[in-house]
Amino acid sequence: MRGIILSGGSGTRLRPLTNVTSKQLLPVYNKPMIYYPLNTLLKASIREILIIVAPERAGDYLNLLGSGSRFGAKFTYEIQDKPNGLPEAFVIGQNFIDKENVALILGDNLFENDFTKDIKAFTKGAKVFAKRVPDPGRSGVVKFNAKKKVELIVEKPKKWISDYALVGFYLYDCRVVEVAKNLKPSTRGETEIVDLHNWYLKHHELEVGIIKGKWRDAGTIESYFEAQIMAKEKLHKQLII
Ligand code: DAU
Repeated sequence: MRGIILSGGSGTRLRPLTNVTSKQLLPVYNKPMIYYPLNTLLKASIREILIIVAPERAGDYLNLLGSGSRFGAKFTYEIQDKPNGLPEAFVIGQNFIDKENVALILGDNLFENDFTKDIKAFTKGAKVFAKRVPDPGRSGVVKFNAKKKVELIVEKPKKWISDYALVGFYLYDCRVVEVAKNLKPSTRGETEIVDLHNWYLKHHELEVGIIKGKWRDAGTIESYFEAQIMAKEKLHKQLII
């Protein structure tokens, strides 16, 4: 299993904090934000990791993280010129992924959950993860039917469909590269990760796991603040880096 940390974008919702640095390098309690998703991959024994960054911040990431040898891992870096959508991670990562399965984690997502078992058990198709939240309209959302089968997946639905948000950790087989290449941008001008989930759903190859531990997407000032509290109270004790 290869790992990708998607750590680009412009962090507009966190301005002015992100005027001179990348959102995912901002401090979260006592570590840069990206340490938390990196820790999630390393704890699950993923050692080959591609870090995708915005061009103007690439040097900062190299200075902070280096080759990966300090973490017992091998890091590769790629530039995403513009935030064209999360699925572009797989187009940029095509050579890195090659014929392997891949785990994508978003650089601003913090998890208490340990994904080791899910990664070990994963063979093909796609597995995504959901969590019941009070504000599902901020995320991709999954609706289950009465038999607990996935009925619908929608990115930030305007009308309520379910309380289950899709979190920023995803497992796919290598077919994801070709699927990502063929996606069309949505009305907000980006390709959407839910379109990848829906492709696997249509082929009856999508599994959705429910995560138990705490989860935060630190993308807004409120959730960034909550992420710091979560890091202080829980996550910093679990860091292996
Ligand atoms: O946090 C989980 C949610 O992440 C999912 O529930 C949604 O389905 C998914 O679309 C995504 O929603 P966000 O609104 O959080 O996406 P955002 O545009 O904020 O991007 C998430 C992170 O990925 C952010 O740290 C910036 C980075 N990014 C984003 C885009 C679009 C990139 O590096 N490149 C990109 O092209």
